[in-house]
Amino acid sequence: MINWITDSIGRWTTPDPEEELMMVGHVLKEEDRLTLVHPPVLPGLPDVLASLGSVRAIILTTHDHTRGSRYLSDLFACPIYAPVQADRSRLDAGRVQRPEWYEESTPLPGGLVARRTIVTMSDGRPYMDEMSLQRSDVLFIGDLLTGNLDGTLAVCPEQFPGVSDVEQKTAKVARALLGSIGSAPRLVLAGHGWPFSGDWQAALTKRVGEAP
Ligand SMILES: [Fe+2]
Repeated sequence: MINWITDSIGRWTTPDPEEELMMVGHVLKEEDRLTLVHPPVLPGLPDVLASLGSVRAIILTTHDHTRGSRYLSDLFACPIYAPVQADRSRLDAGRVQRPEWYEESTPLPGGLVARRTIVTMSDGRPYMDEMSLQRSDVLFIGDLLTGNLDGTLAVCPEQFPGVSDVEQKTAKVARALLGSIGSAPRLVLAGHGWPFSGDWQAALTKRVGEAP
C-alpha cells in the first residue's frame, strides 16, 4: 500500500472521487515517529501506519487537501497543522475545525520548513496561495507542481483537467515558486501525480523564459 521512495519517505495513492485525478498522501518516518502530509484514507491504511510507528502529526499544505485528515487525527489523537492563510470555510467542509495554524516561521514536525507561495494573475485576482514544506532532501508541494508519468514536470494547472488560460497561469506559478522557495531540494513530492526528481528550478526557469 505504501511505496517507499526513500528509506524514510513513503507515498500512497487513491482516486479523487470528484476529479479525474489521483490523490497522493505521504508519510515521513523518523525512528518510530510518523508525520503525514495531506493524507487520503484507504481501507487498511490505519493498520499499516500503526505497524510503522506512532502518527504524531498531520500537515496540510492547502485547504483543498483536507482529505482524511480529520479521521486520522481523531484515530491517532494527533494535531493537524494548517496554513495560516487557509480558507476557514474550506477547512470546515473537511471537518478541520481547530487546527494548529502555521506560518513560515513555525517549527514543524519532521524537520520541515514552510514556504508560502502566493500567485496573483495579471489583473490582480488571487489564483493560488499554498504552503510548500521543504527539507534538505525533499520538497512537499500541494497543487503547484508535480511529476508526470514520463518523468517530466507539470506546473499548475497543467495537471488539472478543464482549466482555462493554462500557459498564462503556468508562467505565473513558475515565477512565484522561483521567488518563494530558495534552496533546491531535488525530490518533489506533490498532492497529485508522480514524484519528480529532476532539476525543478531549471524546468521552472525555462517555463518563465518561454512565457508569452
Ligand atoms: Fe489538489
